[in-house]
Amino acid sequence: MPSPTRSGLQVVVLAAGKGVRLRSPHPKVMHRLCGRPLIGWAAGAAAALEPERVVVVAPPSAEAVVEAAARVLPGVRVEGVVQAEPRGTGDALAAALPALDLGRGTVVVLYGDMPLLRASSLAELLAARGRAGDGGSALLSTRLADPRGYGRVVRDGSGRFQRIVEERDATPEERRLDEINVGVYAFPADRLGLDLPLLTRDNAQGEYYLTDLLGLATDEGRAVEACEVPDWEECLGVNTLSQLADARSVMQMRILEQHMAAGVRIEDPATTYVDDGVEIGEGTHILPCTVIHGGVVIGRGCEVGPFAQLRPGTVLEDGAEVGNFTECKNTRLGRGSKAKHLTYLGDADVGSRVNIGAGTIFANYDGSAKHATRVGDRAFLGSGTIVVAPNEIPEGVVTGAGAVVTKSARMQPFETWVGLPARKHATHEPSPGRTD
Ligand code: UD1
Ligand code: CA
Repeated sequence: MPSPTRSGLQVVVLAAGKGVRLRSPHPKVMHRLCGRPLIGWAAGAAAALEPERVVVVAPPSAEAVVEAAARVLPGVRVEGVVQAEPRGTGDALAAALPALDLGRGTVVVLYGDMPLLRASSLAELLAARGRAGDGGSALLSTRLADPRGYGRVVRDGSGRFQRIVEERDATPEERRLDEINVGVYAFPADRLGLDLPLLTRDNAQGEYYLTDLLGLATDEGRAVEACEVPDWEECLGVNTLSQLADARSVMQMRILEQHMAAGVRIEDPATTYVDDGVEIGEGTHILPCTVIHGGVVIGRGCEVGPFAQLRPGTVLEDGAEVGNFTECKNTRLGRGSKAKHLTYLGDADVGSRVNIGAGTIFANYDGSAKHATRVGDRAFLGSGTIVVAPNEIPEGVVTGAGAVVTKSARMQPFETWVGLPARKHATHEPSPGRTD
């Protein structure tokens, strides 16, 4: 029966390393890059291959690692296996063998700490594996001005791939090679069970090196194609916090380019932080020094920043404006509503054409729980208003500057409230200037 996915393609993502060089107690691949864990980026690149199955090699008790991969692979069979001890990348792949069908097809292996790899490079890898013929393997390489820390690709006099040497095992001459091993491979499935048991720990790190599989293959006269990725940035591995920061800025630029292509004006990409998974409508203007977290939804024709932070759960409807030193969390700001200066809006549902004056705070936290605030259409909160939640500001209410609206306030539409605590001051007619 024809398979609905690319025939026989299986992917293994290695993610059981300790991340010693990151000096963090958390699994390395769970560190976030633009709002998504590293493993989610690596597995996301694999999704484009439409694999038949994906096996994630995770450390013990790290279900979150497998879940983060599965989240970006909808409709794909994702299986987690545990590598009890991080004894090297070869040992990690060996841990995946029982979860693989070793009878046929290709196994693509990639590392969970390479977030920038593009799907197009994985397609090149498969093409190279095709060129290598039956029983042949392929890997990705690239050239780096500073190859330090990476395994080097050693070729023979006629340029044919020979083997990979890890930096710590390399001779000074080999260290000068600038072609590095990216850490992405395509193996014939039926070789893995035979070759993996042949790996030894006879190297500087005392680890089973997956990379030795390729030297083994060339020693036996099997074809290995090293396919060079032209864009070296795609190949950055994350071993240190400094590399995490480098990779973040590359990914950030990719995300911002996508928004700009969709008609979002981003005034200063260098100081704009937009996570993965943010929706922004056409014609919206993002000003400098703005941070927008994953899951935020921004409509068309909005203005955000400068110096604004939109945290998860924020929805800005069309034409809403959030200005400097304003933070929104789990808050809907209705059409045309504005919070332009020095404001905190947490757990709020704000109607349309509401004006939120400078320095307004929604006091949503009482020390143990978070509470919601509702604000009706065309309300006008004066500068420095504090709304103690849970609370409701009905339609058209006006608060005076510095009003503290306590929980006991029972406001009716179109009233003006002032003072501390705010007390009713007047009932007024809706302002003609603020009707729709
Ligand atoms: C590896 C390659 C190196 C390559 C570089 C590219 C080997 C031996 N070396 O080095 O040639 O240039 O990647 O970035 O493969 N992992 C496990 N279990 C382990 C060890 C590692 O699952 O026991 C996982 C890690 O979580 C990581 C990946 O494998 O995602 C790579 O391991 P890492 O230790 O980062 O290898 P590098 O030293 O970067
Ligand atoms: Ca690495």
